[in-house]
Amino acid sequence: MPAKGNFAHARQGQDDMPARCQLKGQPMLPVLAPFPTTRLRRMRRTAALRDLAQENALTAKDLIWPLFITDVPGADAPVASMPGVSRLTVEGAVRAAETAAELGIPAICLFPYTDPGLRTEGCEEAWNPENLSNRVIRAIKAAVPEVAVMTDIALDPYNANGHDGLVRDGVILNDETVEALVKMALAQAEAGADILGPSDMMDGRIGAMRSALEAAGHADVTILSYAAKYASAFYGPFRDAVGAATRLVGDKKTYQMNPGNSDEAIRLVARDLAEGADMVMVKPGMAYLDICYRVKQAFGVPTFAYQVSGEYAMIKGAVLNGWVKEAVIAESLLAFRRAGCDGILTYFAPDVARALRG
Ligand code: PBG
Repeated sequence: MPAKGNFAHARQGQDDMPARCQLKGQPMLPVLAPFPTTRLRRMRRTAALRDLAQENALTAKDLIWPLFITDVPGADAPVASMPGVSRLTVEGAVRAAETAAELGIPAICLFPYTDPGLRTEGCEEAWNPENLSNRVIRAIKAAVPEVAVMTDIALDPYNANGHDGLVRDGVILNDETVEALVKMALAQAEAGADILGPSDMMDGRIGAMRSALEAAGHADVTILSYAAKYASAFYGPFRDAVGAATRLVGDKKTYQMNPGNSDEAIRLVARDLAEGADMVMVKPGMAYLDICYRVKQAFGVPTFAYQVSGEYAMIKGAVLNGWVKEAVIAESLLAFRRAGCDGILTYFAPDVARALRG
């Protein structure tokens, strides 16, 4: 019988022979007795039995909470396309990190809304040791050292044209961008970041950062590589939040992945792990659960998904309109755990952590 799905064989047994069940890559197991010996509803009868049989769970410890930060007067305001999310001041970000600690959320992730006057073609503000992100890293590590601080490494919040890389004559420059990203990574490590998050999709950046970190005495700083990051329309509200939407010239398709690809994600993850990434990410999340599953199955390394701004906006908008129940939030996050993710970056982190606490 040809293999079909994950169950290569699952056939109804005859009276004297149980149905056989074979999980991909594992030996055939005679586990399914025929009906009525097997009644799968038995284990769903009560909450206690369902709890005992639950295979995957979501806890606050699985969450990374992305925060938008700004020091531009008046910009610490709600993000219109992300109801419930606001840009935070430096003090606001410290308070959010304290909230994360109270709720048992292990990490926050910083995304700056940079002063428009500091956005240039050369992106020099990106590696300024005193830039907004680096000041917030220091402030959070001083106030709540137990919360891991993750950063974003890409040039878009500092770039006059909204791209993640340096641009010359309309071309995104790979190697020059990597040099800039390394300077950015070192400044963030110096400021005390625990997890560096390169989200730029340039080639060779992980290896360049890893060797620069080793050489500069930052051997213990971890890298969570945005390894399989797709050129996605789900990032729209994020670009509003960091002020890059109206600036972006063209699209990001020469560096972010084609949404039609799957094998390429495996090659990218393999490459980034070989270059020294400690953890890898798939992004966006819900529309790419197949990629999460493949990555975890193939490598067995710490694997994360980013439930991105557009996903947040869709779910939150529907919840606020009463079109779906709030329970869809936790259900959407549990799906990542089932797909094999160790954790999820989500703007719902504090709400979900509160709900899980009961
Ligand atoms: C940019 C970056 C993006 C996100 C995280 N880092 C947007 C992009 O690539 O254009 C998206 C996150 C989200 O949509 O929530 N380096």
